[in-house]
Amino acid sequence: MAIPITKRQKEVLDFIKKFIKKKKYPPTLEEICVGLKLSAVSTVHQHIEALAEKGYLKKVGNNARAIDINEPEAMVRVPLLGTIAAGEPIEAVQQKEFIAVPKTKLPVNGEIYALRVIGNSMIDENINEGDVVLIKHQSTADNGQKIVALIDNHEATLKKFYKSRGLVRLEPANKNYKPIIIQKDQELSIQGIVLDVIKSGGEIKENPTLFNDEIEKDDNLPINKIICGDALHHLQKLPDQSIDLIIADPPYNLSKGNHIHFNNNGLKGFGGEWNKVMENWDNLPLVDYFKFTAKWLKEVKRILKPTGSIWVFGTYHNTGIINLIFQTLGIEIINEVVWYKRNAFPNLAGRRFTASHETLLWGHAGEKRKYYFDYKQSKEFHDPSDLLKSQGKQMRTVWDIPNNKESREIEFGKHPTQKPLSVCKRIISLCSKPDDIVLSPFAGAGSECLAAKELGRKYIGIELDEKYVDIANKRLKYSKNQQPLFN
Ligand SMILES: C[S@@+](CC[C@H](N)C(=O)[O-])C[C@H]1O[C@@H](n2cnc3c(N)ncnc32)[C@H](O)[C@@H]1O
Repeated sequence: MAIPITKRQKEVLDFIKKFIKKKKYPPTLEEICVGLKLSAVSTVHQHIEALAEKGYLKKVGNNARAIDINEPEAMVRVPLLGTIAAGEPIEAVQQKEFIAVPKTKLPVNGEIYALRVIGNSMIDENINEGDVVLIKHQSTADNGQKIVALIDNHEATLKKFYKSRGLVRLEPANKNYKPIIIQKDQELSIQGIVLDVIKSGGEIKENPTLFNDEIEKDDNLPINKIICGDALHHLQKLPDQSIDLIIADPPYNLSKGNHIHFNNNGLKGFGGEWNKVMENWDNLPLVDYFKFTAKWLKEVKRILKPTGSIWVFGTYHNTGIINLIFQTLGIEIINEVVWYKRNAFPNLAGRRFTASHETLLWGHAGEKRKYYFDYKQSKEFHDPSDLLKSQGKQMRTVWDIPNNKESREIEFGKHPTQKPLSVCKRIISLCSKPDDIVLSPFAGAGSECLAAKELGRKYIGIELDEKYVDIANKRLKYSKNQQPLFN
């Protein structure tokens, strides 16, 4: 199986093949440019570079016709079974998609699969978040081999295997993590050993199978669906200028030190309500978080209609990064809204103020500020629970909305950072029209999608974690179509 190429790259390749067949020598960049009616030689150059990188073309010499057709390296299809935690164990994986891997990277025999790494407990072995590990399925391992371990039949983790005097130790490659010692009453099964690592790299282009421009755009929008998968991947599939409103509630990157686990009873000293979140999806090194944010916001800019806009939830942990990337990408900030949570969880340690707000950045990427905003409705808007908004007066940038969830909002399960429907509905009702498409790229338990549905909008959700997809789907399935603005 060949590495996929974009439609345009295929056109360039076909042109070169035909040209060589006819003339017996390769075309110059200018000839390709003219032949394909492209506007710039630099664009042709980029396609040639990409085709060379993917093994379809090779450079021969330094003259103007220094390209030739190359038979691409033989590739094989390997199932990408999902994600694996190089950190705390996570739920066992399930098959989702396939990736193309050079045949030379694989052994002649054996069952091979791939997993994408989450977490940073293996960084000293140069296995980082976003990398893909190729695994050979086998149930035994030698000391020091990197394995996929399944603990108690449901938690999978990537670690180095050591067995001594009957005791199994799963060793991280990061001094900030402790080894996992398999206790006598625990069951360990080895699911395979790591054969190789496909680096994700920092740039979108560096990982052809996951984050590349070769992901073909899908003209059929997944309307009224929650996609289970990575937002970085699925955003790339959406066509240009296809979405009316995006409400992004991304990871805030505040779950530092994911070796600590505590629940609601153990909140002491952690300052704010949100500090109880301790999730792997919410714990990236700062530079990675920056890159991750820049990548998805770049796609956001591309897919928003000129009349569309984007809202991003945040706290001081990430809002500065979002703000900077908005400005860097040319997403104009329309407002910064403070969502005041009157009923915020008290600060128990007494070492800081009670954190009682979140920040929302509202931006647009179109020209001439064509973004949709129902000013009239915003003025007439009246929610009896908002003590800062009077009907008939302009809506201000501080919204007084209690962080309560009604019982119907949590009847199918909770999400640790679930947003109340009332916040989502305020945004949707003021920034979109009925039948518009609302996208929630980090859908969690689906609050934004449900709010969209209940207000007569279409929705698209993307969520990495199957258990939240499940909650979101149940909420959406059992909701009524049209519901009032206030719950
Ligand atoms: C802050 S929560 C969203 C909660 C949501 N607003 C709600 O009310 O339920 C962020 C969600 O993003 C998901 N997530 C993290 N990284 C992701 C990625 N790369 N692609 C898709 N979802 C991701 C997490 O699993 C988490 O459920």
